Amino acid sequence: MIGRLNHVAIAVPDLERAAAVYRDTLGAEVSAPVPLAEHGVTTVFVELPNTKLELIAPLGESSPIARFLARNPDGGPHHVCYEVDDIRAARDRLVEEGARVLGDGEPRIGAHGKPVLFLHPKDFCGTLIEIEQA
Ligand code: CO
Repeated sequence: MIGRLNHVAIAVPDLERAAAVYRDTLGAEVSAPVPLAEHGVTTVFVELPNTKLELIAPLGESSPIARFLARNPDGGPHHVCYEVDDIRAARDRLVEEGARVLGDGEPRIGAHGKPVLFLHPKDFCGTLIEIEQA
């Protein structure tokens, strides 16, 4: 059911510093910061030949990554995003399999303008999974 790896998201405490590490030290192509108010994060996109990275830093008071960064002050891998052909069909199958979908279970528009859902890390080897409509 899952298709391509769309991106790996890395939560960081300092977005400017993280962007500089990827741009200057690792020599990658990085975007300008993009604030995503409805997701509570500011994102820098890193383009790699075969996938993307998202460097995400908290935006606003109740950012969903604030707790993660409190536990991981240097930052760290936050989630992986897989593409699916039909996000509602994927959700229905996952729920049928007993997986927990976060939030109200309705897809929201993600960082790439496409519908996304997040899946409970306890059901997936300790990793927060995002699925995105391809
Ligand atoms: Co993501």
